[in-house]
Amino acid sequence: MQNKKDVVLETRRLILREMTLDDLDNLLAVLCDPEAMKFYPKPFDRQMTQGWIVRSMHNYSQHGFGLWAVVLKHSGELIGDCGLVMQEVDGVEEVEIGYHVRRDLWGQGLATEAAQACRDYGFNHLGFDKLISLIHPANIASRRVAQKNGMTLVKKTEWRNKPTCIYAVERSSLST
Ligand SMILES: CC(C)(COP(=O)(O)OP(=O)(O)OC[C@H]1O[C@@H](n2cnc3c(N)ncnc32)[C@H](O)[C@@H]1OP(=O)(O)O)[C@@H](O)C(=O)NCCC(=O)NCCS
Repeated sequence: MQNKKDVVLETRRLILREMTLDDLDNLLAVLCDPEAMKFYPKPFDRQMTQGWIVRSMHNYSQHGFGLWAVVLKHSGELIGDCGLVMQEVDGVEEVEIGYHVRRDLWGQGLATEAAQACRDYGFNHLGFDKLISLIHPANIASRRVAQKNGMTLVKKTEWRNKPTCIYAVERSSLST
């Protein structure tokens, strides 16, 4: 069961909460998968996953947001991450919605459910006017999640030496 104070967001099936180093094994199970990480330079090992958690914890204290642990409500199991991350894109500071879900759970709408909650939190609680997602053009599942999150393709660019689609949604375009 979750400690109430750690919970940032709650959706129908999910809890999003701050991650800690206690999540290392479960997050590694998500990020070490070569299929899930095929658009990254390489799958994460234990050390990279630990760095990912430490950076997220730093982001919570620095910005008040970051990538959060995605936990299934019914089991309390960590099954991915989703959240908001500052990114510099073509010289401009943007706020990205990012997501990873463990492969055995793909296709159930879980990433979309988490991403939509992060979008609403970014607009309604943190006051951002625009949110983006940075996605490799061949990452069809992620592009689809961005679309279901109300985003449209704004442009294609080179980001960290990779071709990248920039999807974006503006607060003013949503009725919520
Ligand atoms: C991207 C990712 C988070 C999606 O997670 P998920 O929980 O399966 O996402 P959802 O179920 O909410 O939605 C996935 C959508 O993509 C669609 N999809 C998946 N693979 C597809 C493919 N090859 N072709 C067309 N559509 C595809 C699904 O059908 C679904 O759309 P639908 O609801 O219209 O049917 C998951 O695939 C993942 O973790 N990938 C690896 C990490 C990653 O790439 N993260 C994003 C970095 S930018």
